Amino acid sequence: MKLILATQNSNKVKEIKVLLPGNFDIISLKDLNFSEDIKETENTFHGNALLKAKYIAEKFNANVISDDSGLEVVALNNEPGVFSARYFNENATDKENLDFLLKNLSGKENRKARFVSVICLILDGKEYFFEGEIKGEITFEPKGTTGFGYDPVFVPEKSHLTFAEMTLDEKNKFSHRAKAIEKLIHFLIEKLKVD
Ligand code: IMP
Repeated sequence: MKLILATQNSNKVKEIKVLLPGNFDIISLKDLNFSEDIKETENTFHGNALLKAKYIAEKFNANVISDDSGLEVVALNNEPGVFSARYFNENATDKENLDFLLKNLSGKENRKARFVSVICLILDGKEYFFEGEIKGEITFEPKGTTGFGYDPVFVPEKSHLTFAEMTLDEKNKFSHRAKAIEKLIHFLIEKLKVD
């Protein structure tokens, strides 16, 4: 089964590709030479996931999955949330966002946070959503070099390592995205059995 993955984020492509069984043929936007940046104008993960998936499904007349994800920090009223990729400013780097987060959390004892991923699937024109979350804590300083985004400051529950101190396989045992993808795989396997 062919699915276009509607993201320009090469880290998301890498994470999702290793999770899907071999009979799913994942085509990235890079494979399609599509480099346009789809503006995320909605204020929910569902809204933005749908917007990205729909745009690509219509453009390529294909089945598509998208991921909209972010970090919600309790002591910051669930910020940065849907603004995670552009927390410091519109064109922020991962490092700028992460430094800004630590600055906003300085002096705060409550470090509780969660990552959320909403996957939108557009299959034969119909929309489906799958969600995953992982709770954890924000560290006081960045640790580790793997991954992307806020990985160096996030320690998931039941671990003492940040996501950036883990291999991709280890991160996928915990991650919000892996949990959402697991639900997607379950759905597709059941659906393919029936159709
Ligand atoms: P978007 O889904 O493209 O709007 O951006 C998601 C943003 O949330 C990323 O750019 C990261 O800043 C953050 N994020 C989402 N998932 C992860 C993750 O697994 N690790 C680290 N940061 C993440």
